[in-house]
Amino acid sequence: MSGWVHRHVIDLSAFSTDDFATVLELAQRFRSLPVVGARRLPALQGRLMTTLFFEASTRTRSSFELAAKRLSADVQSFLPGSSSLAKGESLLDTARTYVAMGANVLVVRHSCAGVPQILAEHLDRGPERVSVLNAGDGLHSHPSQGLLDLFTLARHFQPDAPSPAALRGRRIVIVGDVLHSRVARSNLWALSACGAEVVLCGPPTLLPDCFADFLAAPPPGQVGDPVPDRIPVRLVRRLEEALPGADAVMTLRLQKERMHQHLLTSLESYHRSYGLSHERLALCGRPVPVLHPGPVNRGVELAGALLDDPERSLVEEQVRNGIPVRMALLYLLATESGV
Ligand code: NCD
Repeated sequence: MSGWVHRHVIDLSAFSTDDFATVLELAQRFRSLPVVGARRLPALQGRLMTTLFFEASTRTRSSFELAAKRLSADVQSFLPGSSSLAKGESLLDTARTYVAMGANVLVVRHSCAGVPQILAEHLDRGPERVSVLNAGDGLHSHPSQGLLDLFTLARHFQPDAPSPAALRGRRIVIVGDVLHSRVARSNLWALSACGAEVVLCGPPTLLPDCFADFLAAPPPGQVGDPVPDRIPVRLVRRLEEALPGADAVMTLRLQKERMHQHLLTSLESYHRSYGLSHERLALCGRPVPVLHPGPVNRGVELAGALLDDPERSLVEEQVRNGIPVRMALLYLLATESGV
């Protein structure tokens, strides 16, 4: 597995199409291993992964922990409520404490954008080789979710050989609270790197016009875009206009905890305009899958019957795929970056 240059995984804007191909190929290999009662692979024996989650999580933390255990790593979890943060210890000192205990990989989630990047820069100045894996920072980025969504879509289109080519020319519609979604931002970098056409759909309060320029330049601080020819994002306000011709539809949670103004008239009116149901999905003109990163506000972004329909909903498949994708990331950090 050559060509992997990332010591840290902070934002998918830094990934080339080859990087995505590497993760998908490796995830597919890990996905095909027996799961129940699986023998552990020895790849990360003697390595320690520490999860530092300063924000709530159901799927991401458990999935990272399982992934690390399946590769024989030791796993340690920091719980902010019962830690010395309450005594005034800084976040950097907290991270250094875990590095002093031998952590090789820090998986970090924080409500402030930029925290994993700052930690990575700080740790790079120290003597130890440590990787920082961003598990979601504010509205900025959620790379492992973007990768597992990409893997799920690539497997849907090409079950035996999921690769970036499986996405080329596909139209993927992302609907809902794009403004507050780090998942949507990561998906934009991932899907566009694979040649997909992304259509964003939502009301102006949750999808400001400036998202049309999202892929026009790499984020501040990043030198150059590793992907030369991204298809620009298209914004469509009405779901009825966005859905015809779609190959897959991804819905996003309304992130009420991050909404500090009244951005919606009511949940009912949101569901009427942007909620997905079987009837709405039929507007695509062919049977297409629905994705959602979870947690779902049942009956708001997605009708319960659609969420529960195994013929259409890939939501549980996304959860399943999170484990091999995170195994692939941990494996690459440990074996290719030498942490
Ligand atoms: C997402 C997150 O935390 O950003 N969830 C997840 O990781 N599966 C999306 C969300 O919270 O809506």
